[in-house]
Formats: sequence, C-alpha cells, structure tokens
Amino acid sequence: MSFRFVSLNDLHFRDAECERWLSQVVDRIAAVDPALCLLGGDLVDRGAKEDLQAVSALFSRLGVPVRAVPGNHDYGPAGEAEPWDEVFPGSRSYAFEHESWQFLGLDTTCGPEWDGTEVQPEAISFLRGTVPQLDPRRPTVVFTHFPLAPGVPMTPFNAHRVRALLQELDLQAVLSGHYHAVTEHRIDGAIYSTSRCCSLQAANHDGDPDKGFLVFETNDGKADLRLRRHFERC
Ligand SMILES: [Fe+2]
Repeated sequence: MSFRFVSLNDLHFRDAECERWLSQVVDRIAAVDPALCLLGGDLVDRGAKEDLQAVSALFSRLGVPVRAVPGNHDYGPAGEAEPWDEVFPGSRSYAFEHESWQFLGLDTTCGPEWDGTEVQPEAISFLRGTVPQLDPRRPTVVFTHFPLAPGVPMTPFNAHRVRALLQELDLQAVLSGHYHAVTEHRIDGAIYSTSRCCSLQAANHDGDPDKGFLVFETNDGKADLRLRRHFERC
C-alpha cells in the first residue's frame, strides 16, 4: 500500500519567534496528512534542552510517528549530547519499517563539528550489524544530517564507507540536510539529496529564499519511480 511521508531538516529553533513560525509549519504538515514525519537534524540552534523539548512538543501534535536524527547544532556549546539523548531517546542510528518500506535513521554527526568531519565508528558499526538483517528487496530510505554524496560541500570524508555499506539494499533515497541548499546525485539508482532548511532565522547557503519541507508519495507498483516528491514552501 502506498503512503505519504514528509521530511524536513535544519529547523535551527532558538526563540519564541521560531516557535510561532514552526507552529504554522506543523499545521501545514498536518494538512498534508502524512503517515510519518522525518526530521533530519539541527532541530535547534544551540543544543538547549528546552528548545529540543519545544520542538518535540510541536511535532507531537501531528499524532503520527516523528523520527529524528541529530545534527551538529543539536549538541550543546561544549559538545553536550545529553539533552538530545534525553529529549529524543533512541534517535541516533536506528531502523524501522512502514508498510512495505524500510527506513534507516543514521547519525552522521561528529559532535558539534560542522566541516572536515568523519562519520563516527558507532554509526559504521550500526550499518555493519543492521544492513545484513534488512530485506534487500524492500525499498529503503535513509535519512541523516550530513550530505553523503561525493563532491557536496561538508560531506564527511569517510562517506564512501557509508555508501558502500548501503549498496546491498534497494536504496531509493538518502535524505540529508546541513548544507541548506538543494543538491541531487543519483548513485547506483538511489537519489542522494540535500534540501533547503526549514528555519525562520537560518538562511539557505545559495541565497534561495524558500524554506519548507518535502512531501513524498511512495509507489509500490512496478513503476521505475518508487518515490515521488514535491517541496512545500512555508
Ligand atoms: Fe548542520
């Protein structure tokens, strides 16, 4: 059965003004009636626990599963990871299913570092242990914070190891943020993309004024295009 899900990244929540704006974004997402919502990191700007709690509360209004992975801004100024792990428990690297699809949330952060990073051994070990247990015939989506395609700015230097570990899956898309701009690469049949930010106060790095979220429709038929998507401007 086909279904709809949404994906957004780089919310950079920091104050009451962001809360009002993001509340409207959540209403817009609800209007799309998704079965699932993916949050691709940098939910907050300064890693503050109260900001993470505010974002969590806003998205809980959707009443559907909201799955998140951390970004570099979700760590505290001294690299504190506890607020993220307390507010979004179990939200680093993990797998889940929806209908006939498989999803992998992947923590590609290297603490609060933003460039020149390395996907950490925990995430690599997770993939080594988990990918062989997944069904290689089922369509699969990865969502993560850092870009993973070669040549995209701020792609971790060992992203090729991640791509190699995903190769045996029926990978449809790898959805990333962090770069705050649209990039798309097709690698072994999968789309590796980065998207615009969904933030009131942060900017897109290419001057694109649009902020918003992606809406995906799955297709379980034999069509080549298993995943249709469009961008909703907020
Ligand atoms: Fe980021």
